[in-house]
Amino acid sequence: MSANIAEMESRRAAAWLGGGQKRIDAQHAKGKLTARERLDVLLDAGSFEEMDLYVEHDCVDFGMQDQKIPGDGVVTGSGTINGRLVYVFSQDFTVFGGSLSARHAQKICKVMDAAMKVGVPVIGLNDSGGARIQEGVASLGGYADVFQKNVLASGVVPQLSLIMGPCAGGAVYSPAMTDFIFMVKDSSYMFVTGPEVVKTVTNEVVTQEQLGGAITHSTKTSVSDLALENDIEALLATRDFFDFLPSSNRDDVPERPCSDPWDRLEPSLDTVIPPSANQPYDMHEVIRKTLDEGEFFELQPLHAGNILIGFGRIEGRTVGVVANQPMVLAGVLDINSSKKAARFVRFCDAFNIPIITFVDVPGFLPGTDQEHNGIIKHGAKLLFAYAEATVPKITVITRKAYGGAYDVMSSKHLRGDLNYAWPTAEIAVMGAKGAVEIIFRGLSTDGIAEKTKEYEDRFANPFVAASRGYIDEVIHPHATRRRIALGLRKLKNKSLENPWKKHDNIPL
Ligand code: HXC
Repeated sequence: MSANIAEMESRRAAAWLGGGQKRIDAQHAKGKLTARERLDVLLDAGSFEEMDLYVEHDCVDFGMQDQKIPGDGVVTGSGTINGRLVYVFSQDFTVFGGSLSARHAQKICKVMDAAMKVGVPVIGLNDSGGARIQEGVASLGGYADVFQKNVLASGVVPQLSLIMGPCAGGAVYSPAMTDFIFMVKDSSYMFVTGPEVVKTVTNEVVTQEQLGGAITHSTKTSVSDLALENDIEALLATRDFFDFLPSSNRDDVPERPCSDPWDRLEPSLDTVIPPSANQPYDMHEVIRKTLDEGEFFELQPLHAGNILIGFGRIEGRTVGVVANQPMVLAGVLDINSSKKAARFVRFCDAFNIPIITFVDVPGFLPGTDQEHNGIIKHGAKLLFAYAEATVPKITVITRKAYGGAYDVMSSKHLRGDLNYAWPTAEIAVMGAKGAVEIIFRGLSTDGIAEKTKEYEDRFANPFVAASRGYIDEVIHPHATRRRIALGLRKLKNKSLENPWKKHDNIPL
């Protein structure tokens, strides 16, 4: 008996060493943790239960039959984050560069199946040289198996990807189909073809970091939702982030004790709107002062800053926040901001997370650049996402709600449940001056000024919309949190279903 146990222990110890001490040291020298060290930081202490520790590849080409490392380059299993179950996989770069073999893929698929069965999220820690070159098509098949699982899991359980090393070629498409991607600065990159191929094909000289590093993907492309400084920061951020997520589409949002009074009044919000309509203010302030303890987990803060998205809590329960940001491009809706918010709204809707929308939007951004790049189709994404969403939707118009953007931003017409406006709201087809210049073309400067004043008096307020029932109530800014909390209580058992369909056809 003791010999059997000793053998088990020695096999375990061998497997835990992955590709060996030399490669572990090399990993550390790059400032990276190993696959198992990462799981130690991500999961509650002692909660990790590994599966498939002894799985080995079955490749017999290129001398691979003599190179077998138990676990085959990916550590898989389950654990808890602040007590809540999660399935995980963590690619081990010390074993064949974390490359994906058929067996490696099978292990990933197994944790995804297990997560789907019990309805809990999957977190993947990616650090891989891509397809296991010695295995050829078997590896490609493995990738496709993972892709298929990603798609079937989408909207059923939350899927998170941390990119903590290379992620190149077709390998990028698994993370790309998960709900959120966090990248580590300087040590991770994602691209379909690397700098060398780029140079050969297009003659461009570019570094890995420039082509597909964390900064590139969290500013330009929006492939990544956050760029973190190092492994530890990324893993700790993931723990915080996880706390906002429901376990599956069958579960309600998590709830945690909250000491922030639900009816806390915030008098400073009464003066947050500047006297001039053209002056910006920081919508972060409105968001933070409304949410529990001022905590807002912002996503994509470096991309399309004219719209803000992220999670917070009201009375301890998760809400998704979408808000125009007057500090950037006056909060205008453009291609990038529409895409950014649309995907977030769809995530919230898929996972029963109420959506709070703060509106201060001068309209859609004009120009050939926007038109020729498809603002029609991309703007429609956000409109579509809000219109199809059946979760509780509460909207607060703080200032401008002009034109089509008024409709888009969770208006009453798109089944907004509670649509509030501050007294400073201006709900109109467009700004007063622009409107007057169109309807009174050719008028003198004085005439324009007079008519502009008339138009402002008539429309630069929330009461015309409120008189039609498009706004449920004009509220004191200081009471915003109280109103939202009460609204969410009322809407807790909201029941609304869209007509049966195989799936919709959102403008992609
Ligand atoms: C097998 C691999 C591997 C791979 C790395 N290794 N990538 N083994 N298949 N894809 C092994 C190396 O042989 C080496 O083994 C160890 O991992 C570490 O690799 P190094 O090159 O020493 O590390 P580093 O200098 O940090 O470079 C990392 C790297 C580089 C940039 C990822 O290894 C690399 O370019 N690898 C090939 C990447 C690639 O072309 N992959 C296929 C992409 S196509 P030893 O024994 O020396 O430690 C693809 C298609 C997917 O993925 C399609 C899906 C549909």
